[in-house]
Amino acid sequence: MGATDQPRRAALPSSPELPAHGWSTHETLERLEALRVTDVRWKEGRAFSLAYQASPEAHDLATEAYRRFSGENALNVEAFPSLRAMQTDVLAIAGRWLGAPDTARGFLTSGGTESILMALKSARGQFRATGITSPNVVLPTSAHAAFHKAGAYFDVELRCVPVCSETWRADASAMARASDANTIMFVASAPQYPQGVVDPVADIAAVALERGVNCHVDACMGGVTLPYLERLGVRFPKWNFAVEGVTSMSVDLHKFGYTAKGASVIMYRNAALRSHQGFVTDNWLGGFYGSSGVLGTKSGGPIAAAWAVLHHLGDDGYLRVARSARDTTLSIAAAIKAEPRLVLRAEPDATLLSFGSATPDLDIYAVADGLAARGWYVDRQAPPPSIHLTVNAIHAETYSQFLSDLAATLDAVGNSSGALGSYGTLE
Ligand SMILES: Cc1ncc(COP(=O)(O)O)c(C=O)c1O
Repeated sequence: MGATDQPRRAALPSSPELPAHGWSTHETLERLEALRVTDVRWKEGRAFSLAYQASPEAHDLATEAYRRFSGENALNVEAFPSLRAMQTDVLAIAGRWLGAPDTARGFLTSGGTESILMALKSARGQFRATGITSPNVVLPTSAHAAFHKAGAYFDVELRCVPVCSETWRADASAMARASDANTIMFVASAPQYPQGVVDPVADIAAVALERGVNCHVDACMGGVTLPYLERLGVRFPKWNFAVEGVTSMSVDLHKFGYTAKGASVIMYRNAALRSHQGFVTDNWLGGFYGSSGVLGTKSGGPIAAAWAVLHHLGDDGYLRVARSARDTTLSIAAAIKAEPRLVLRAEPDATLLSFGSATPDLDIYAVADGLAARGWYVDRQAPPPSIHLTVNAIHAETYSQFLSDLAATLDAVGNSSGALGSYGTLE
């Protein structure tokens, strides 16, 4: 935590004491609203990270659906057939986005990280049965940090292979060379987060297929948007289950599905692959216990919100928001390419991009500080030092202001310096 965080924290009307007499609903909600006054204004399109907004109506619907099912528990859908039906529907819709075959089977999870954890855990279980007890996973350096978390949680070695220096795409040949007889899975991303490009999934899956091991495609960012961009004629490498050798995929509904937080899909090519994900035991005094993922109790809120928003936006709605986010991404990319003090890291394949400083005396993190002072939240990443933008539908309304604030920041920033910061926090 930086020293500058202290005054802001102290100013918040937080209340660490349990009140002796409970607050009224009105007072409680007033205090909750007071707590958020310094939060980034994401519903106004000020955050290029962490939050997504298709429309106020879709957001309100997600909130209402979440509220209605927040107390229901998907740990056991025998008690809540409504949640079973919603999950089945959502998985079928997601499966079509991912080009999944009829044999495909999946689960809803709490987010991209859980989907990735489960893909790796499943692969570990699957290959442990074949005698691999010191497994490794081969992945590009651009693959999301969640794979590293999965490796740490499940004690699986991760072999990180540098991406191609020109394209930022994964290097399938180098990944093949990094593998050995203990490799259980290769990873590709569609698109990868840092520079927003789609990996050569077909090349990586071919290596996996030849070795008889798994290939997971992380489409947490692109799984909803890419099918619509394809329909709009955008060209990028083949990325989904249509590629032979892809065994599992992850797609986040709480990102470009524009649903409430806590909703992602892990999809396997068939039921046999999926069978390694679940956990069961009867070795305690409570009888038979089974659960599909990391969570035990699992709120119905995110499931109902996902079901509601998917059906509310519909196919035409997702086409519309994908086109909008893509057009905005291209407009921002064009402005960055026209700015001699900045360098666009890669032509975006979808709706994510990053840029850095083109001159040694411009610190890109100082630019991020300047943008923050003007009310914009952008991600800071490295290496190389860059600003990252995740562009979604809401930004169509705000990107012109963002670009003029970026220009003003570049004029004002001089040779001051900033800091990398953190993608997530330990709090
Ligand atoms: C490509 C990719 N995969 C996985 C994740 C992890 O998703 P989550 O933060 O929902 O756990 C992210 C998050 O930004 C991502 O960009």
